[in-house]
Amino acid sequence: MNLSTQTKRLAITDLRAMKREGRKIACMTAYDATFTVLQEEAGMDVILVGDSLGMVVQGHDSTLPVTVDDVVYHLKSVSRVSRCAFIIGDMPFMSYANPQQAIENAARLMQEGGAHMVKLEGSETQLSVVPELSQRGIPVCAHLGLQPQAVHKMGGYRVQGRDESSATGMLRDARALAEHGADMLLLECVPAELAKSISGAVEIPVIGIGAGGSCDGQILVLQDAIGLTVGRMPRFARDFSEQQQHPAQAIRAYIKAVKDGSFPADEHCFT
Ligand code: KIV
Repeated sequence: MNLSTQTKRLAITDLRAMKREGRKIACMTAYDATFTVLQEEAGMDVILVGDSLGMVVQGHDSTLPVTVDDVVYHLKSVSRVSRCAFIIGDMPFMSYANPQQAIENAARLMQEGGAHMVKLEGSETQLSVVPELSQRGIPVCAHLGLQPQAVHKMGGYRVQGRDESSATGMLRDARALAEHGADMLLLECVPAELAKSISGAVEIPVIGIGAGGSCDGQILVLQDAIGLTVGRMPRFARDFSEQQQHPAQAIRAYIKAVKDGSFPADEHCFT
């Protein structure tokens, strides 16, 4: 059953309007055609072809081995069948270490892969890269908080922004990235109060994962949302499959919970 009433492709302007109007943005990762169709039929607003594919598809123990070719391959599988979602492609580790490299690789994600936006991890270090992409018509989502590509620098997958100086720094970075042309922010594993301040401080949509219910939208890795997590389920995630018979029902349940604000609940948030 197709529950989606969305007939035209969502654009960044629609996502900004959703933020202004307080309508929550439902996002999820997808890496293939089947789940793209299921997600769009269920009414997903945004699909991220994340470098999490390195872990959930390729079986690596981090996202670091993922290449631009890998992301382009999975983006093609998604964009080939996509009709209405806004598609984001993840820039892999070391694919945006300087502006020229970032421009070339972002162009591949958009031209070959069909992405509508690229996502990169980083904070003030990206202030030299983001404007270069933005000025060339490449929409950018800046990923703040827990940055899985920096797992070895951060010493593990830990909540970020818990002490005052890192919280102030993250808020400052968020504002600066928005001023330098970022069109979206993604906050991963950030205390809910800090995520609320960041969402209120910028006009661009802020999508959260483990960042509380005040973000403008939520994202989960597909496998976590439909009960296919291998190993430990992250504390911020919820398995929507429960008694459901088909993954499509879990995807619909997730979208409904994001839209009505019942996900994330307190147990999925950090202080
Ligand atoms: O790669 C990915 O799937 C991500 C999510 C954790 C948001 O960046």
